[in-house]
Amino acid sequence: MLNKSISDEELIESARKARENSSAAFSGFHVGAAILTKTGKVYTGCNIENYSLSLSICAERVALFKALSEGEKDFIKIAIVSNDSEFCYPCGSCRQALYEFASDIKVLVNDSNGSIKAMEIAALLPLPFKH
Ligand code: THU
Repeated sequence: MLNKSISDEELIESARKARENSSAAFSGFHVGAAILTKTGKVYTGCNIENYSLSLSICAERVALFKALSEGEKDFIKIAIVSNDSEFCYPCGSCRQALYEFASDIKVLVNDSNGSIKAMEIAALLPLPFKH
């Protein structure tokens, strides 16, 4: 998808679509994410769980790594939705990964009432590890 002026609502809708492919047989917690690059492309991801639980991966890192693996370097915002009624904030590992590759990315979360919250990754990960 190529669209530089994608709205927050449209990005959330892309994350919702991506959530349909979530493979969460163990937790039952389905997550979708969609990341908008400065080149105007949207890359989506969903969580994928594995019998060997530690191999499971979150939706946000799937979306981010898909984009990085296609050569994307600059990011505008990422939307995250789950099948829970509450906002789904990124886990600590995803915050670290997002911060490392997109230190000024805006993070959008959406609850089942349709409310949207937006925050900077730096606010979600104060005093980040870097070297
Ligand atoms: N999960 C995500 O995909 N993103 C988040 O922000 C939080 C958690 C996944 C990991 C696991 O598959 C399931 O949700 C329950 O933790």
